[in-house]
Amino acid sequence: MHFSSIVWPFVPLTFAFPLEPRDAPEFVITDLGATFPYPFPPYGLPSVNSFIDISVTYPDPTSSTGNNLNTTCSTGWPEGTDPAPIDWTACAGSSLQFRLPADGWTSTTNFTVELWETLASSGSGLDASHLLTSDIGNPSDPNAYLFCIEKGKFNPLTCTLTGPQGQMHRTVILPAIELSSRPA
Ligand SMILES: *[C@@H]1O[C@H](CO)[C@@H](O)[C@H](O)[C@H]1NC(C)=O
Ligand SMILES: *[C@@H]1O[C@H](CO)[C@@H](O)[C@H](O)[C@H]1NC(C)=O
Repeated sequence: MHFSSIVWPFVPLTFAFPLEPRDAPEFVITDLGATFPYPFPPYGLPSVNSFIDISVTYPDPTSSTGNNLNTTCSTGWPEGTDPAPIDWTACAGSSLQFRLPADGWTSTTNFTVELWETLASSGSGLDASHLLTSDIGNPSDPNAYLFCIEKGKFNPLTCTLTGPQGQMHRTVILPAIELSSRPA
């Protein structure tokens, strides 16, 4: 006689405890505005006051129900100084800091943003980073959040947060991990 075996699906009872993704801490960059030199005469401007401004939503450390806070983080370079990586810099919201790490910086249209939120007086907190690039030829690039455009003569390069063709506003979600101290 021939028996075919049947493998019963095994459903572990522990699935009775659902995953709660809302509990995973994250930062969200909701907006970005940036102005950079564009040194390709006759177009653009080789020397301008450059800046990067970002708006960030971050977990409210005093909330047990997952409330968020909003703040802005800004950095700038005076005319004549090329935009470059920056060390930890305070955001407007006192518990949040950001930096542009040197090992994540390729150019003004390809750089990593790292965020740090201090949670406790021991110095522990939340850390997250994300690469932002402008990749117009490759709409499927998962990091292509920057839309950078140089509007004719005598204008700098300006960047905003959109899809790779500039077609719609997007936000950047940064899943955060808890660390005992701010990364050096
Ligand atoms: C924070 O910013 C987000 C995105 O702009 C907005 O939807 C939300 O209402 C803001 N929250 C507060 C508390 O201001
Ligand atoms: C951004 O820089 C990284 C590292 O140098 C590189 O691998 C990647 O191709 C760059 N992306 C774009 C869109 O230039």
